[in-house]
Amino acid sequence: MPRGLFITLEGLDGSGKTTQIKRLAAWLERHRLPHIVTRQPGGTAIGDRIRQILLDSRSTGLAPMAEMAMMFADRAQAIAEVIQPALEAGRIVLCDRFTDSTEAYQGGGRELGSQTVLELHRLLCGALQPDLTLLLLPGFEASLARARRRNHRVEQQTGQNEGRFEAEQDAFFRRVWQKYREIAAREPERVALIEGDLSIDEVHEQIVEAVSERLVLAELQAE
Ligand code: TMP
Repeated sequence: MPRGLFITLEGLDGSGKTTQIKRLAAWLERHRLPHIVTRQPGGTAIGDRIRQILLDSRSTGLAPMAEMAMMFADRAQAIAEVIQPALEAGRIVLCDRFTDSTEAYQGGGRELGSQTVLELHRLLCGALQPDLTLLLLPGFEASLARARRRNHRVEQQTGQNEGRFEAEQDAFFRRVWQKYREIAAREPERVALIEGDLSIDEVHEQIVEAVSERLVLAELQAE
């Protein structure tokens, strides 16, 4: 059985990834393409516990290296438990964030550098690479404002606190943004950059186009 397709979604907080991943999953469903949806951090029972520590703004004083190590602990678990088995079963895996997030947030935002992140990826993730990465970069200010509003609302409604990253200064997110652009420039074959203030439908159309191209390519390679 041919290996499935590994698709990741990336972007700043509030870039609309969650909406788009749902739309893409519905599109795959309509085309009867077997798939799973997962996210990082999280997506496994152990990962959900790691997510809680990482995103809760009461986790004060978490050292940047410890933060990065936990992102990779979560990822190694998700690969073993969810991603690799699904790919081996021939499924399409839609993953909300992957190692590009660590490179952008810890490598760029926390200024730990790309090299450390890529080296850890090689050691801990068996160098698993996405076949396609959809990088959403709408307007910087609008994304952040949306993420901060949403976290405030979720906390009011559920008491769940996931605002540790959104509480960072704008300068942190500028470095994240810059690193994402660097990754897109370095790996144009893998990364489809979708930028600017587009409507939800327009972003979805671009995503479907990029995914369809990759599906055709995978079919040709399997022949
Ligand atoms: P999200 O799941 O709502 O997108 O939030 C996850 C947060 O964690 C987001 O602020 C980005 C951050 N993050 C990192 O800093 N490094 C990582 O490797 C991952 C996967 C997420």
